[in-house]
Amino acid sequence: MKRPFFGLEFIAGVLAIVVAAVVVGSTLGSATLVRAAIEKARNQAAANSNQPQLSVLVAHGQKLYAVNCSHCHADDATGDEGPDLHGLTKSDERIKAIITNGIKGEMPSFAKKLQEADKEALVGFLRSLR
Ligand code: HEC
Repeated sequence: MKRPFFGLEFIAGVLAIVVAAVVVGSTLGSATLVRAAIEKARNQAAANSNQPQLSVLVAHGQKLYAVNCSHCHADDATGDEGPDLHGLTKSDERIKAIITNGIKGEMPSFAKKLQEADKEALVGFLRSLR
């Protein structure tokens, strides 16, 4: 039997090469995509890495606030006997000093009651107020 010019084997060979090229190409392509996705996830993880810690700090500060401060500054810190504590423009150090020393005749000192870490947490909570 006379073989046609483009024999089945020839076509199968070409197909095999095309399939191989597509498989290799898409593998390389998706490897690049996977690498990009990993890179992105890594960057996001790095950006968020201090967030869980931050929310633990804020939650601790919120608890301390409820016990020590809310009866004067209101449960939602919008102020009552003491002023509204939203959007404080004082520095963290200044706020911690106020908590430590109190304000004569106005606000009690918390020097004996709260540790440095507690004051940090309170500042964190006050900064989280919106
Ligand atoms: C007995 C009531 C009372 C308690 C309890 C109290 N405060 Fe105050 N606080 C005040 C008053 C009153 C002022 C305002 C004093 C002034 O301006 O002369 C004040 C002022 C402040 C200020 C300064 C605000 C500003 O705008 O300058 C901060 C910050 C503050 N308090 C935080 C706290 C925190 C945090 C706690 C809890 C650890 C707390 N206070 C507990 C009464 C209180």
